[in-house]
Amino acid sequence: MTRAHPSLSTMNKLILIAGLCVSLGGLVSSSRLVCYFTNWSQYRPGNGKFIPQDIDANLCTHLIYAFAGINETYELVTIEWNDDVLYTSFNGLKQSNPNLKTLLAVGGWNVGSQKFTTMVSTQANRNTFIQSSIKLLRKYGFDGLDLDWEYPAARGSPLEDKQKFTLLCKELLEGYTAEGTATDRPRLMISAAVAAGKGTIDAGYEIAEIAKYLDFINVMTYDYHGTFEDVTGHHSPLYKGSQDTGNHAYLNTNFSMRYWQDKGTPVEKLNMGFATFGRTFRLSTQSSKVGAPASGPAPSGNFTREAGFYSYYEICTFLQGASVHLIEDQEVPYAIKQNEWVGYDNKESFQTKADYLKDNRFGGAFVWSLDLDDFKGQFCGQGNYPLISFLRSLLGPDLPPIPTRETTITTSAKPPDNFCATMTSGVHAKPDDPHSFYNCANGITWIQNCPANLIFKDSCHCCDWPLL
Ligand SMILES: *[C@@H]1O[C@H](CO)[C@@H](O)[C@H](O)[C@H]1NC(C)=O
Ligand SMILES: *[C@@H]1O[C@H](CO)[C@@H](O)[C@H](O)[C@H]1NC(C)=O
Ligand SMILES: *[C@@H]1O[C@H](CO)[C@@H](O)[C@H](O)[C@H]1NC(C)=O
Ligand SMILES: *[C@@H]1O[C@H](CO)[C@@H](O)[C@H](O)[C@H]1NC(C)=O
Repeated sequence: MTRAHPSLSTMNKLILIAGLCVSLGGLVSSSRLVCYFTNWSQYRPGNGKFIPQDIDANLCTHLIYAFAGINETYELVTIEWNDDVLYTSFNGLKQSNPNLKTLLAVGGWNVGSQKFTTMVSTQANRNTFIQSSIKLLRKYGFDGLDLDWEYPAARGSPLEDKQKFTLLCKELLEGYTAEGTATDRPRLMISAAVAAGKGTIDAGYEIAEIAKYLDFINVMTYDYHGTFEDVTGHHSPLYKGSQDTGNHAYLNTNFSMRYWQDKGTPVEKLNMGFATFGRTFRLSTQSSKVGAPASGPAPSGNFTREAGFYSYYEICTFLQGASVHLIEDQEVPYAIKQNEWVGYDNKESFQTKADYLKDNRFGGAFVWSLDLDDFKGQFCGQGNYPLISFLRSLLGPDLPPIPTRETTITTSAKPPDNFCATMTSGVHAKPDDPHSFYNCANGITWIQNCPANLIFKDSCHCCDWPLL
């Protein structure tokens, strides 16, 4: 056998196996903690002001910079006047943590759908965008692109956005693979932040298709409820509430994660969203339960200055003199003070959600966002980044470096021996080299290497830390 590279579909299978191995590998239960940085948090007053220098380079495995835009000639561009300065300091964090991966997010709710629709509409436009993204990402030292199109084929957009989005993902992978090979650099990563609501998912994504091309998928499991409704509800419940019937039964994290999985995303590619913010309501009657009448948002926070929305550190201030309740069926808390109602997450609900994430073997967590946690420990009395650092500790005492296609799947340069000729398909130990393993497919032998520092274990058929 002299075939040098497995076919793309074989590759995908191998990646799947490798991903699973790491997530099933004993105590190392989850591999990704992806954290968003927002370009507008630099404008918050006083202790709320947040810049890349406020990021702890060792807190997350991946950082995503939100947001870049698309210009009239379909090219990926900076938006803020000082984005280029911030991009540089953002990527400079890798000097403190060489394992850190950074991505640039394009889109967001402000950008809307129109620019994406035009960009994906023809192959020439998509190619312009893809080539411009390579240029911009490489120029500033990003490791990948995060697609934040809210949302393909949503409200009034062309229905074919759905298929065009798939093409974009496919051509991005092809373009990035070609560039990586040509320049001998690790391929740029591709991820997407995607809808959690059933209708938006059904309209916008060919799930099983895009899952093949994306390195990971961030399911935005928050904003299920908010002041666009006239009754109180938690924006990020884990489970269905006892009163949720009809379409409301879909408005919870468990539904969305399972839906993305059941429609064909490998679990290890799915990241579950964790919110470091709360959503507020102004109660309009004496009732303060979930589903109580509300007449709009509570006043805006002193730092985030957006009605209906509090950062976790603003919630810590709000909690003084407030009464706290647990929504038992949904496993998340809310707090009431006078006529204000705030649904939020705390360490307890993060723990419940992290347990759920691990039980379901999802690939990781992502956090919206760094600047909304008590990043300097000045408000909550729980240290720096109380929620995110707690989440990190829950996901694994030692989050391993992330297996990417490049690090996980290193096919031997030498022609493989014919070990597999007599073996069943699947992975097998390679006795003479614990850092490698055989991967047999229909009698064809592949020798593969575990990610750095991991060894192959027969007990789990996976690459694992030597001591675990
Ligand atoms: C940050 O990025 C968004 C893109 O969603 C852009 O609209 C906005 O102008 C940028 N800056 C600020 C301060 O919001
Ligand atoms: C779009 O951005 C690219 C890259 O920065 C630039 O060369 C091009 O002139 C821009 N197009 C317009 C219409 O501004
Ligand atoms: C979680 O979702 C699955 C699949 O939709 C469902 O079968 C299960 O009952 C849900 N769990 C809870 C506790 O609601
Ligand atoms: C905002 O600041 C005022 C005055 O310092 C304070 O009384 C109030 O509690 C603060 N509000 C929030 C939500 O933190």
